[in-house]
Order: sequence, then C-alpha cells, then structure tokens
Amino acid sequence: MERSLSLITIFLVLALSGRCSCDVNLFSRNDFPEGFAFGSATSAYQWEGAVSEDGKKPSIWDTFLHPRNLENGDIACDGYHKYKEDVQLMVETGLDAFRFSISWSRLIPDGRGLVNPKGLQFYNNFIQELVSHGIEPHVTLYHYDHPQYIEDDYGGWINRRIIEDFTAYADVCFREFGSRVKFWTTINEANVFTIGGYNDGTTPPGRCSSPGRNCSSGNSSTEPYIVGHNLLLAHASVSRLYKQKYKERQRGSVGFSLFTIGFTPSTSSKDDINAILRAKDFFLGWMLEPLIFGDYPDEMKRTVGSRLPVFSEGESEQVKGSSDFIGIIHYLAAYVTNIKFKPSLSGNPDFFSDMGYAVAPWAMESVLEYIKQSYGNPPVYILENGRPMKQDLQLQKKDTPRIEYLHAYIGAVLKSVRNGSNTRGYFVWSFMDLYELLRGYEFSFGLYSVNFSDPHLKRSPKASAHWYSAFLKGNTTFLASQGITKLQSDFFSSAS
Ligand SMILES: *[C@@H]1O[C@H](CO)[C@@H](O)[C@H](O)[C@H]1NC(C)=O
Ligand SMILES: *[C@@H]1O[C@H](CO)[C@@H](O)[C@H](O)[C@H]1NC(C)=O
Ligand SMILES: *[C@@H]1O[C@H](CO)[C@@H](O)[C@H](O)[C@H]1NC(C)=O
Ligand SMILES: *[C@@H]1O[C@H](CO)[C@@H](O)[C@H](O)[C@H]1NC(C)=O
Ligand SMILES: *[C@@H]1O[C@H](CO)[C@@H](O)[C@H](O)[C@H]1NC(C)=O
Repeated sequence: MERSLSLITIFLVLALSGRCSCDVNLFSRNDFPEGFAFGSATSAYQWEGAVSEDGKKPSIWDTFLHPRNLENGDIACDGYHKYKEDVQLMVETGLDAFRFSISWSRLIPDGRGLVNPKGLQFYNNFIQELVSHGIEPHVTLYHYDHPQYIEDDYGGWINRRIIEDFTAYADVCFREFGSRVKFWTTINEANVFTIGGYNDGTTPPGRCSSPGRNCSSGNSSTEPYIVGHNLLLAHASVSRLYKQKYKERQRGSVGFSLFTIGFTPSTSSKDDINAILRAKDFFLGWMLEPLIFGDYPDEMKRTVGSRLPVFSEGESEQVKGSSDFIGIIHYLAAYVTNIKFKPSLSGNPDFFSDMGYAVAPWAMESVLEYIKQSYGNPPVYILENGRPMKQDLQLQKKDTPRIEYLHAYIGAVLKSVRNGSNTRGYFVWSFMDLYELLRGYEFSFGLYSVNFSDPHLKRSPKASAHWYSAFLKGNTTFLASQGITKLQSDFFSSAS
C-alpha cells in the first residue's frame, strides 16, 4: 500500500467547488423513484453503550480505547436502554428506514459458540420496535467491532479462521432476525477499516509496521492486503450462506460497503490523471473489482506484486457477484496530484477531519457515475452521508450548514438517479450525536443533539431534523419558512 500510494497525494477540498452543472433546481422526495428509501443511521459501538452489561464482552474497540484513556462508547447514547424513545423520534422524523449494526460481542460474546440470550433479546426487541412502526431495518453485521476474544485467540482478520466464525455469526443473525430484516450489509467501510487498523494502526486493532508509527505488532506491507482479502472471502461466504439457506424464504439481499471519495485531478496533466486512475483502483477497485469481476485490478497486482493475495479459481467464483448491492459511505472530495516521495493520503490520520467537509456534491455524482459506468451499474445504497459540526448544544440547534450540505447532496443523488444510476436509498449520518470513532464527542453529525452532560442523555431535534422531516413529508410550508428555496438557488448560482 505505502509503495504505490506514496506516488499519490490528495488534497481534501477546502472550498466550495465551482463545478456544478445545475439542471436540478427545486426538487422534492416525490422526484425520486417509487420505493427509494430515505433513512438515517447509527452503529452499535457508537450508540448502544451498555458496554459490559447483560453478558456483552469486550470488542477490539473496548480494549483499544480503555488503556489509552480516550473518550469512548461505554455509555454513548445509551441506545441499549433508550431504543424505544429513539424509534419514536424516527417515526416523528418520518424515516422510511434505519441503518444500525449488531455488536458481535453482545450477541456471541466470545465470537463463536454460545449465543447470549440477553443480547439476542435486545436485537429482537429493537428490530420489532422498528418494524412495528413501519421502519425498514438495514442491518450491518460488522461495523469494525469484532470480539477481542478472537483477536487474542488467532489474530482476528489476519487469520482465515475468522471466515468460519463470521459466517456462523451471520447464520445466527439470519436465523433469528431474517424474517424481519431484508437488508444486510456484511462489512462496513472495508477499505478504511483495513487501512486504519492494519496499515496505519490508528484504529483498532492498531497493527502496523510503518516507520514513525507506534504499533507493537503488525506488518503494513502485507496485512492490509491479507485483511482485505479475508474480508472479501468472509463476505462471500456469508452471501453464499444466505443464498443457500435463507434467500428463498426471507427474500432479502446482502451487500458490502465501501468508503468512497470523489477524486478529481489537481491539474489536467497526464500524471495527475493517471494518479486518479490509480487512486480509484486502490481505493475502490481493490474491493469492487473482485466483487463485480472476480479479481483485483491489474494496476494493483502490478504494484503490490506477491504481497497481494491471489484468489483461487473457486474463491474468485464465490466472490464475484456476491454483493446484491454496494453500500456507499460518502463524505469527501479530494484533489489528487501525482507527487513522488510523499506519505499517502490513506495513511493520513486527518482523513476524517472536518476540514474536508466542503459542500462538493459533484463528488457524490462522480462516485455514482463511476460505479455506474465501470462496474455495470449495480444497485447502490448510500449508507452514510452527512456533515460534522462542533458539538455545541446551543449552536447546533440552528445547524444551517448541515441542512445546506444534506440538501445539496440529496440533489446530487437525484441528478445521478435521473442519469441512470441504480441508487436506491440514502441514509443521513447520523441520526443523533454519538461517539464518533476516535474523534469522541467533540464533533457530531446528528440530526438530533444529545446532551451528554445530562444523566438522561436528553435528545433534541436540531433544525436539520425539522428540515429532513419536512423534506420526507413533503411539507413545502416548512421548507419555504426556512428559506430553503432561497438557499438552494443561492447555492446553485454561486456554484455555476
Ligand atoms: C508508543 O506506545 C507505547 C506503548 O503503548 C507508549 O508507552 C508510548 O507513549 C507511545 N509513544 C508515542 C510517541 O505515542
Ligand atoms: C512483513 O512481511 C514481509 C513478508 O513476509 C517480510 O518480508 C517483512 O520483513 C515483514 N515486515 C515486518 C516489518 O515485519
Ligand atoms: C450520464 O450518463 C451518460 C451515459 O452513461 C454518460 O455518458 C454521461 O457522462 C452522464 N452524465 C453525467 C453528468 O455524469
Ligand atoms: C444539559 O444537561 C445539563 C445537566 O442536566 C444541564 O445543566 C444543561 O442545562 C443541559 N444543556 C442544555 C443545552 O440543555
Ligand atoms: C409543515 O410545516 C409548518 C411550518 O413549520 C408547520 O406549521 C406544519 O405543522 C407542518 N405540517 C405538517 C403536516 O407537518
């Protein structure tokens, strides 16, 4: 990874992009195809809290954060106890769908073997609460948080043994929840998880060997590729299990999710344009080519050589076509310049920093267009998109920049859909303020604020919650009263 990406440096976009061919002016949710799902999202570690309650054992997040004395998700939003209240807020907001993840170490505390009955009951209750209120659950099986036990036992994702354990865990989920859950994402942001956890060591399990990093073990030259490979094989194994054992009866679908960046070259030089192709191959093609075509991109094979695992013929067949949909996590646009001897973007711990969160809806369009054209237009769900702001309860109440961001990006999705993209759903990250992975509680993306100093963790709607709700309910009175119409035409005229 570091060798090839050392040739690429990417500058996150800091200013409003000037690129916009603005033929969508005003739009409403009725302009989206029938059945297009609008939702919002959280994940287990970031929302549930109840870190060691009712039989839950540590995940790699707990063991990574506790000794470092960092802010953590021990309590988070206490969704474990407050889920009914939160579903009520989802209903008031008018969400069609809700995306959340299951904590593997709550359901099967040692990663394999016995199911924890209290964990099972919690997810049964939560899913029932959603479904009985007409909210479609979109479940992620793995949002970075595997049980510490299997990390200690055999090294977690660097060992192929995890494929069997992950498949058995998925089997429990399909069996217990599959009558009510139709949308399953196996792995969250597989590319970013792999880079953070095994190349940079900045996220759990914190493995790396790059100079200047501080990991006690790992190998940045080989492990990112091994882990990426095992994630793909584990996904394919789960997908096959679903097809063989559940799909006919449950009629759901199983997808895989990736972090995407809208890349654009800094200049029109040939070097920069080639750098974009390489960035796309490394960032997306790494996982998408195997899922769609059954093998890694040629560019990657050439660059990484023998460090890149090889799919056997049988594995290639199993991985190819194993994703019923592609889940897209999208926040950022980036300018790419071909530079030698610079550290990679992907290694850059500022990757998630708020500075990249400019309104650059063209980036979303370019990602969707690229997936359409290069990968045969598979069904796509945008599983995360949103804008962070400093966590300040007063300031956050009127979070106009977030409204502007969401509005512009939903407009970009509409443009892509109108141009043939097979995108079928859009989820705002996040439904409420929560523990942001490694960023703690300083910045937040929520439509609802959470008062983390309040023992009751009171939730309150921000302006963006009212706005999203009005959009979903087609309340033009509200949109007009918030100056949204004006905001939109200002945005488009300044951008065009
Ligand atoms: C590196 O890690 C060790 C062990 O966790 C810790 O004691 C040390 O302070 C760290 N050094 C830096 C520069 O982060
Ligand atoms: C990483 O693994 C490769 C291949 O096994 C080996 O050549 C290299 O020395 C290892 N690097 C470290 C830092 O252990
Ligand atoms: C719209 O789709 C066509 C056909 O795939 C493509 O050639 C064109 O570039 C797309 N337009 C935009 C703005 O992406
Ligand atoms: C948050 O909760 C604390 C403790 O209950 C309270 O003192 C404070 O006023 C609350 N803040 C807001 C903005 O409601
Ligand atoms: C629509 O928004 C207006 C203005 O905020 C509000 O008074 C009204 O109750 C809303 N209507 C519905 C159906 O939610």
